[in-house]
Amino acid sequence: MLVIDHVSKIYRVGGQDFTALHDISLEVEEGAFMSFVGPSGSGKTTIINLMGGLDQPTSGEILFKGRSLAKMDRNELAAYRRENVGFIFQSYNLLPVYTVYENVLFPLLLNDEKESAVREKVRALVDQVGLSPEINKKPTELSGGQCQRVAIARALVKDPALVLADEPTANLDAENSYHILELMLKLNRDFKAAFIFCTHDEKVTKYVRREVRLEDGFVEWDKTKQPEGHFS
Ligand SMILES: Nc1ncnc2c1ncn2[C@@H]1O[C@H](COP(=O)(O)OP(=O)(O)O)[C@@H](O)[C@H]1O
Ligand SMILES: [Mg+2]
Repeated sequence: MLVIDHVSKIYRVGGQDFTALHDISLEVEEGAFMSFVGPSGSGKTTIINLMGGLDQPTSGEILFKGRSLAKMDRNELAAYRRENVGFIFQSYNLLPVYTVYENVLFPLLLNDEKESAVREKVRALVDQVGLSPEINKKPTELSGGQCQRVAIARALVKDPALVLADEPTANLDAENSYHILELMLKLNRDFKAAFIFCTHDEKVTKYVRREVRLEDGFVEWDKTKQPEGHFS
């Protein structure tokens, strides 16, 4: 579904070139549940951002269902993100003045959907992430784990092929991290979306079916495995 073909990323910092990703090639299959792991600075956020079309490789190519992101113009790339990719961030990135319901609705309004047509869908998704009682609350009234559930619902509301999550459990305690991981695993099955994380949280690595280890912008190893299972 997503092909990373000989991708390098070079940042220019203070007149010097710094290579954040060195000639990375890998494929992500539909419905994947995988994680990039590796120390801080190893290139995890860089590769997630490239996959999401938030940034462009310096060389090499990323193909989504056979289409090169590099050959898309600005509007096509925006459409790729809007229609195919859900993002989940470490710091949730919710809109603080809006309720849970409105935060989940928001991406659909950006896609020109009418609220009346999607109201039930948004409510159902809020229910699936266990937040029906909180649906009219604002993010400031929620715990970190609850905020991340809102972010997950918001990422899935467009039925994306791909969910990209940059350190999704980094701000959560162990118990909430497990709940969030189990929720994502369940939604990965129910929605058939591929989930791609990056993390250095060991709890995440127990859940994923594939782990790609990055070090200094190189792939150290790429392992497909049985997840160890459920923990709660
Ligand atoms: N916009 C940028 N400009 C210059 N250097 C950057 C930029 N983004 C990341 N880097 C550098 O690239 C390397 C990889 O960063 P990043 O992908 O954020 O790593 P990780 O997410 O694994 O911590 C780091 O050394 C970082 O300092
Ligand atoms: Mg990072």
